[in-house]
Amino acid sequence: MTAEQERAARRRFATLGRSVALFRAFLVEQTDPDHFYGLLADDSVRQVAGYTPLTGRTVLDVGGGPGYFAQAFRAAGAHYVGLDPDVGDFSAAGSAAGMLRGSGTALPVRTGSVDVCFSSNVLEHVSEPHRMLDEMARVTRPGGILFVSFTPWLSPWGGHETAPWHYLGGDRARRRYERRMGRPPKNRFRETLFPVSISDALRWTRGNGEVEVLDALPRYHPWWGRWIVRVPGAREIGSWNFLLVLRRAGARPDGLGQASVGTGDSPAAAGKVGLTGGRVAM
Ligand SMILES: C[S@@+](CC[C@H](N)C(=O)[O-])C[C@H]1O[C@@H](n2cnc3c(N)ncnc32)[C@H](O)[C@@H]1O
Repeated sequence: MTAEQERAARRRFATLGRSVALFRAFLVEQTDPDHFYGLLADDSVRQVAGYTPLTGRTVLDVGGGPGYFAQAFRAAGAHYVGLDPDVGDFSAAGSAAGMLRGSGTALPVRTGSVDVCFSSNVLEHVSEPHRMLDEMARVTRPGGILFVSFTPWLSPWGGHETAPWHYLGGDRARRRYERRMGRPPKNRFRETLFPVSISDALRWTRGNGEVEVLDALPRYHPWWGRWIVRVPGAREIGSWNFLLVLRRAGARPDGLGQASVGTGDSPAAAGKVGLTGGRVAM
């Protein structure tokens, strides 16, 4: 497929009907998580497939959470490995087999060992988002793809369950939630929820010579709504959820980017695992 044909395929994917279906599913996230996360995972895999083939590729899902994405990536033929610091999150949608426990800010994975480094809605939960992005770039093989999405703080959903009161301040929104619900929110400002912005993420790409931006778009919007990310300020509110698709710079080996032992890692990197065909090799 030519680059133009790929772009056309991505447009056919990003229809208004798709956006409406995602939004409807989002409204029942709490009452029917299987429906919402199943749909989101299938949608994400189709979106990633618009940039890279997945069959036989090694995918590392940073902050994978429940196993919905595992099922969807494996169904697409990828060798999927999920990583999350919260073991409880691993198995909500199935088996925890092939999952790693760890943090996106210190990936226990060898340099250049994955074809696709994927992360959906995690960056805003990490206190050092640049460090996580650096780590994702490090473990991706030259020519491999990084796919990173997050909810900007100024998005209507930026405060998560405390939204839209986060517009009056994260601490205030948190206190209000506690007063009304009698318990703290799961996503606590500056503890498990941090104010990340699109401008900041784009600044990171400009300062990192190892990545090339393939795309930057509002993740759930129809294709004709993409213009919003070109408008500083407005994009923080109007994108709802931001998606960066990056290519790791360097030579592009045609072979699949299987993890190989010692790819560029020093002995100091001992303890990091290789991911060979989705298997975790110590
Ligand atoms: C909102 S959930 C997203 C789950 C899934 N990726 C999705 O899109 O539905 C955020 C996930 O980030 C994980 N997380 C929090 N801090 C993390 C960190 N430092 N490194 C990696 N994952 C982290 C949480 O355990 C949780 O599973």
